[in-house]
Amino acid sequence: MGGELRIDPWSSNQSTDYGNIISQFGLQSMSDVEIPNPSHLHRRGLIFAHRDLDVVLSAHSAGQPFGVLTGLMPSGRMHLGHKMVIDQISWFQNLGADVTITVADLESNATRGLSLARARKVALEEYVANYAALGLDPETTQVYFQSTRSAVQKMAFTLGRRTNLSEFESIYGFSGDTNLAHVLAPLVQAGDILHPMLDEYGGLRPIVVPVGVDQDPHLRLTRGLAAKSNWFNLNSRKGGGLTIGLSVQDDNAAALGIAGDGKLDLKVRQSVIDNIVAEVADLGFADILPNAKHGSIQIPSATQSDRSSVRMKLLRLERSMGGLGLMQPASTYHRFAVGLTGDKMSSSLPNTTIFLTDDIAAVERKIKRAFSGGQPTVEEHRRLGGDPDIDVAYQYMMYFFEPDDKFLAEVNADYRSGKILAGEMKQLCIDRACEWLTNHHQLRDQTGHLVNDFLAPDAR
Ligand code: TRP
Repeated sequence: MGGELRIDPWSSNQSTDYGNIISQFGLQSMSDVEIPNPSHLHRRGLIFAHRDLDVVLSAHSAGQPFGVLTGLMPSGRMHLGHKMVIDQISWFQNLGADVTITVADLESNATRGLSLARARKVALEEYVANYAALGLDPETTQVYFQSTRSAVQKMAFTLGRRTNLSEFESIYGFSGDTNLAHVLAPLVQAGDILHPMLDEYGGLRPIVVPVGVDQDPHLRLTRGLAAKSNWFNLNSRKGGGLTIGLSVQDDNAAALGIAGDGKLDLKVRQSVIDNIVAEVADLGFADILPNAKHGSIQIPSATQSDRSSVRMKLLRLERSMGGLGLMQPASTYHRFAVGLTGDKMSSSLPNTTIFLTDDIAAVERKIKRAFSGGQPTVEEHRRLGGDPDIDVAYQYMMYFFEPDDKFLAEVNADYRSGKILAGEMKQLCIDRACEWLTNHHQLRDQTGHLVNDFLAPDAR
């Protein structure tokens, strides 16, 4: 069931039909990966799906490098929804990931008219200052600006060759009157996501991007662009094993043995195939079946679990021959916390969320007015119980403020049974929120001097 669903990163109404989203967009369920040292977001099912997270976790368990990346729109104020992403970045950082953070100043300039100078000020004072307080480690974090990193802009152009308006129409629903800034922004975002794999920015390694589902169209686009840029395709072989095929394109034809006249240059082709065979043999495979004319190599004895190591070899070979050698980025998807009012959380509607700079009085006021899952009267509430699944105060404890799973489960049960009243639930949430926020404000004062340490050399 469920009709065609389109996810739109610019729309303000989001689908929360997570089951349908998983099946329609081919996301992988979180239940098929084992998460080391899970955070409350993992334990409570708030991160519900992923693409290729297993590739990242394998790198982690093999002691190989991996990175995590996110971007910020330097337009509004940092709120709880943004904090949830940084919590995930921090979790990956603690696992050993290097961190790259994009300030989307070109995007905010083009789509919201913000000056670059203003974007810089907002990014540092409103976002990076809070990242420091949230515990990101500046040692392994690099914050950069889209406007001053030409590798990102260059990549947007290079990758732009691998897509067209029809694809943008089908991914984003664009039509003839779409503003072209909305065409540029996703290409630059693809550059943001892929450029950390370049040798100058950390080199070939898996990169994971934790996002809300609204950003998945960008990930689908980016993954497609990376795959289409690859010189060597890796597929399952009919009858078992893996097959490598050459992907001949305008800019690699000569290197892959297609001469200017379109004819096969067997000498060049043979040496490409020999190089691939040598790389694959290096992984220990005995029977490797090359076919220079077809431009294919079959490895019957390879299994699905050999995919990553074969792919790495191919990407390195591609790089040595002049290609980009890009992996598809991995991603994880989190549920959206509802806004305090029961609508969508949004920076432009201050009563729907808590900003990290809000004072205690504002927090108290906002939570007191929050949408409740309680019954209209105390008598009915005692008799029928409340519904924590729609009670915003409960939801906020679960998403943001309550570290203790056991306590949360008790509160849940006691609310359902009617033992805890709606007002009491709000007071619990207020207590937790104020405690958290007071502590956060202290930390921000203590870590303010670190802000510049987060900046990449090209951002200083
Ligand atoms: N488009 C994102 C937003 O609207 C910002 C962004 C730019 C981003 N580049 C990114 C997010 C790379 C994740 C990864 O918030």
